[in-house]
This record gives sequence, structure tokens and C-alpha cells, in this order.
Amino acid sequence: MKVTVVGAGAVGATCADNIARKELAQELVLLDIKEGFAEGKAQDMMQTAALLGFDTKISGSTNDYSKTANSDVVVITSGIPRKPGMTREELIGTNAGIVKGVCENILKHSPKAIIIVISNPMDTMTYLALQSTGLPKNRIIGMGGTLDSARFKYQLSTALDCSPADLNAIVVGGHGDTTMIPLIKHATWNSIPVTQFLDAAAQEKIVNDTMVGGATLTKLLGTSAWYAPGAAGAALVESIVRDEKKLFTCCVSLNGEYGQKDICLGVPVVIGKNGWEKIVAMDLSADEQAAFNKSADAVRSMNDVLKTL
Ligand code: LAC
Repeated sequence: MKVTVVGAGAVGATCADNIARKELAQELVLLDIKEGFAEGKAQDMMQTAALLGFDTKISGSTNDYSKTANSDVVVITSGIPRKPGMTREELIGTNAGIVKGVCENILKHSPKAIIIVISNPMDTMTYLALQSTGLPKNRIIGMGGTLDSARFKYQLSTALDCSPADLNAIVVGGHGDTTMIPLIKHATWNSIPVTQFLDAAAQEKIVNDTMVGGATLTKLLGTSAWYAPGAAGAALVESIVRDEKKLFTCCVSLNGEYGQKDICLGVPVVIGKNGWEKIVAMDLSADEQAAFNKSADAVRSMNDVLKTL
């Protein structure tokens, strides 16, 4: 297996580090536009191989896409990150051009690659990747819901004082502070509904803290987060390269599912060797479906901005 991570910033490097530690690829290429940056990160990571005991070969490239040739999976993290007080949506103008160019370059050398989009605003960048490449929809996966669901489990585990690994909880809809929908009524602690242990105020706090999870970190760190976004990207790579068929929430192209069309939005999907292989239907309450539709409206108006660029 060969995997490329485009963008050697904090998210890309963390994603690559996770991929190498788990030996998800024989070959891993880190690419960045900044001269020598990806090469430096790759060399630094390779120098952990003797300590950590992995045999993935990591190399860096300054914008030379020929080095990424024949990648099976490509993770796109390129673009400017959020600064404190900024929404993900404010990044659209700059990041749209970057993501479109990256997709073109990648496909020239890896026409069969499955593409995972992390760049923000993630829902719109996923839609752009799909529209601009014309790839089969199953090969374009937006990472957002995977990260947001992990953050949701973190908030739940803190409130319940339990292991996050024992929780089943997903966030659907968009990957924006106001567009994501943590489905708390469906969340369970090893099959027991979490709502059994949390009063209405506690539930509301968990949902709200999850929704502003990224913004909270941006404020604390002065830039957007990287450990959980990088790990979420690597978890998707793992399910693809090992054909695990795990169920994640990802931003994928909807064609009538969940009542939406011509949009990429977060829903539960099976991730395996063919990319996203199946959208899994779940029964949403009237309120949840209304929130999903509202989220779709907001993301659609973001997508409309692409037409003006
Ligand atoms: C976050 C960015 C990666 O949520 O979207 O931290």
C-alpha cells in the first residue's frame, strides 16, 4: 500500500505519524509546498522508526507530485487553518483554489486513489473535490464527522466518567460549529442509552461543548487542533487499507439519502477498500431530521460561494 498525505502542517504530520506507527502503508509520502518542510518532517519521523519499531518508509516532497505516483489513498490537509475567532467557513476562498489544484495534481499521478478531505470548510471542500475531479462518489470522503464523533465521545466520557472506547455516539450533518448534530438520543454506553444517566442540562452541555470542540481548541492553541484531526484521518486510512468495513460518520455525496441531494454531508457510512461503500440509514426523529435539513441549507449556501470564485 502507498499513502500520500498532502500538507505537512500539524494535521498532516500527525496523520502521517499515526499511519506510520500503525504500519498502514509500506510507503508513505508527505508533500508540502514549503521548500524542504515535508522532507524535514519525513526525516524526523523516520528517525522514530528505530525507537517505535515500524517499517513504513516515509519520504517528503516539495510539491513534486511524481513522488506520490500510484498512491492507493491520499489525505488532503492543505490550506490555511483557522485562527482564533475565525469560522471554518471563512477559509473557503483561499482553500478552494488550493484543494482543487491538489486534486488535479494527485489524480495525474494516482488516477485510482481514494481521496480523504480534511481541509476546511470540510463539507464544501469535499463537494468541490467531487465536482472538480468527476471521480466516482465513493472515492471522495470528507473526514469531519469522524473527528466530531470522537470529540462527542470525549465529552460523554468525561460526563459519565467512563471509557470513550465503550461509547457509541455519532455526529451527523455539517462540520461547522452550528451545522453539526451530535445525536445524543441515539448515543449508548455499551448499548445502554446515555440519556439514562444524564439530565437535560447535562445533555445540552455535552452537545454544545461538542459543537464548539474545534473552536475551543483554536482559542486555546492559537491555531486549529491537530492530534484528533490527524488521528481521525488515519482511522479512515486504516479502514480502507485493511478493508475493515468500519462504520464512521463521513461527509459523502448524498443522492436522496437522508432527504438530501447534490450535497456532501456527514452521515454514517461503511469505509472499506472501495472508499465509502454504503450509506447506512438510521431513523431520525422529526427534530433531528429538521436539524439535518437546516444543516444542509447552511452547507448548500457555502457551496454556492464556490460558483462566485
Ligand atoms: C477542527 C478542524 C480540523 O475541527 O476542523 O479541529
